[in-house]
Order: sequence, then structure tokens, then C-alpha cells
Amino acid sequence: MKISGVGATVLAIIVSSQALLSPCPNVRGPSVSYNTAPGWSYVKVVGGLRSPRDLVLDSLGRLLIIEVGVGITQHLVDAHGCIINTRLLISRDDLNHGICLSADGKTLYASSPSSVFRWDYDLNTGDVGQNAVEVVTGMWTSGHISRTLAIPPHRQDLLVVSHGSDMNIDLDSSNPEIARAIVKVFNISSAPAGGYKFVSEGWNAGYGLRNEVGLAFDGNNMLWGVENSADNIVRTVGDTIIDIHANNPAEELNFLGDVTLPNDNWYGYPRVLHSVEARLAVGPRLPSRPAVRPSTHRGFQRRHVCPDLRATRTQLPGALSTARV
Ligand SMILES: *[C@@H]1O[C@H](CO)[C@@H](O)[C@H](O)[C@H]1NC(C)=O
Repeated sequence: MKISGVGATVLAIIVSSQALLSPCPNVRGPSVSYNTAPGWSYVKVVGGLRSPRDLVLDSLGRLLIIEVGVGITQHLVDAHGCIINTRLLISRDDLNHGICLSADGKTLYASSPSSVFRWDYDLNTGDVGQNAVEVVTGMWTSGHISRTLAIPPHRQDLLVVSHGSDMNIDLDSSNPEIARAIVKVFNISSAPAGGYKFVSEGWNAGYGLRNEVGLAFDGNNMLWGVENSADNIVRTVGDTIIDIHANNPAEELNFLGDVTLPNDNWYGYPRVLHSVEARLAVGPRLPSRPAVRPSTHRGFQRRHVCPDLRATRTQLPGALSTARV
């Protein structure tokens, strides 16, 4: 079973050839219905959360959810994926996004805009130790302030921290020493007293990454990341101004690789941005038959750029128009 956070709701999702999940007792159905692929079904397990941003399951199946401005809530989940008990585990209004557990399940990590904290976690009781220890400090506190956290499955001594850009187009971040629009790695087996300084310590797992909110390791323990490209960008071709983001920035999937070694590669942001439609990015002569597949997303026409990935990367010097963060 996979549990995923969507809006203020958490859904339990299973894949099975037959069984449909039954509704959870005392939980109102979802206000939006989702289409699933054949063989998949879902059920809403809890609503009314306050901006649930990320979640983990401990090895006994307790669900830990980080809620912006609340802290961390802990939920006991039954065999059907339904929640049978809930409590506020950590009350801290500065926590806002990242959460992860060490492989042995004994240490819990969570992030605020500026810092990563660590608590002892008791698997038997589900309780946390009283004191939060700061393991990373000094992150920038405006712009994209969610700090996704990940621990590589094969290297429990390392903590990966994603740090987004300050604004939509953060020109200063093209210098990796500014340490924004970057993913960094810290050796948590030997964190200094007071925590690592984010900007000057640790090593890079790539920079020029606008806001790598999604991080995952593959079966070879290589790190991948996903980000939204910029808001409100246009491309100017002659006298024509073309909106290439169409109210929903194109996404970028990045291979960040082996986090045990520094990765000082630049991934393009803020100089390289993405178009929702390949043919808009490769002008000035637009191909008569664009190699794109149409689909709809929230009521407007959107095109996934699939067949020609090269066409999704384009240099846009001086062609940017930014209106909001
Ligand atoms: C992390 O630090 C420990 C203790 O200093 C060391 O043994 C280990 O090799 C370090 N890990 C990496 C990937 O550098």
C-alpha cells in the first residue's frame, strides 16, 4: 500500500487485480474524484489537515505527516489503510515540509525554512525525545522554502537536503556558493555541535535546480529529482510574444547520481527554462506537425513534451518576463 498526501487530504492507494478499497468509517468521501489506472483503487483516509506537505511510515506502520504551521502528527493505520488514532507528536509552527526517518527507525528528521532538526524516535511507543537537535542551519528563508529531505538507502550516514531558489528567477543562484537552487549532502554521522552551516558546509548533489521538491533514489541508489520550471515565462520570436508556460510550468526530471561523491554539475536554472510545448521552444520556425501528445489538466489544454526531450531545453536569454514569484 502506498499512502500519498494530496491537498489537505491523505489517500491510501493499493494496486490489486480485484479488490476495491472500502470507504473508511467516519471519513467523508473526497471532494474531488480521481481516475486510477486499471487495477488501482484509492480511498480517502483523512481530511481537514493543514497543508500536509510530506509523510513517512515508520517500520510498524505508523503514519507521520508534517503539516505547515502545526508540526508533525502521528496516525495509527489499520489493515485497510484507515486511520484509527491520531495525535500531535511534535507541536512546532516553524516546521513546514521535509520529514524522514533513519533506516533503523530511531531518528526522525524534519525541516523548517532555515534548519533541519533531529529527534530520537522510540519505535516501541512512537514517542520522540524532548529535545530537537539542529543538524543543518542557515538556509535562506524567503522564496521557495520547502526543504525536501532524503537519506540514501545504502548510506545511512548521509542526509540530502533540497533548497529552492529565492524567487521565480533567482539570478544569484547561478553561483553555487550562494547555495540556493541546489541540492546538498551532509554527513550526519559526524554533525558538528550547533549543526552544519548549509551554505558553506556539506557537498553538492547538483546546482541550477530551481526547486527540487521531489527526490527519490533508484534501485542502484542513484538520486533523481523533479522540479517545476519558471512561472510566467514568455519567448519572444520577432514581434511575437509566446506564453510558453501556459499557467502550469513544465516539469524537469534530473539525474543527480551518486550522492556519496560531490556533483558540481550545473543543471541549467536560471538560464535554461522549460516550455510546456516543444514546438514553442524550438522556433522561430515552428514545425508544422509538433511531436507532442495533447492532454487536459484542470480544464485547460496542456501538452506533455515526450518524444523529443532535447526540444524541451532551450536558452532564453533576455526573453524572460516574470510577474510573480
Ligand atoms: C561520514 O563520516 C564518517 C565519520 O567521520 C566516515 O566514516 C564516513 O566515511 C563519512 N561518509 C562519507 C560518505 O564521507
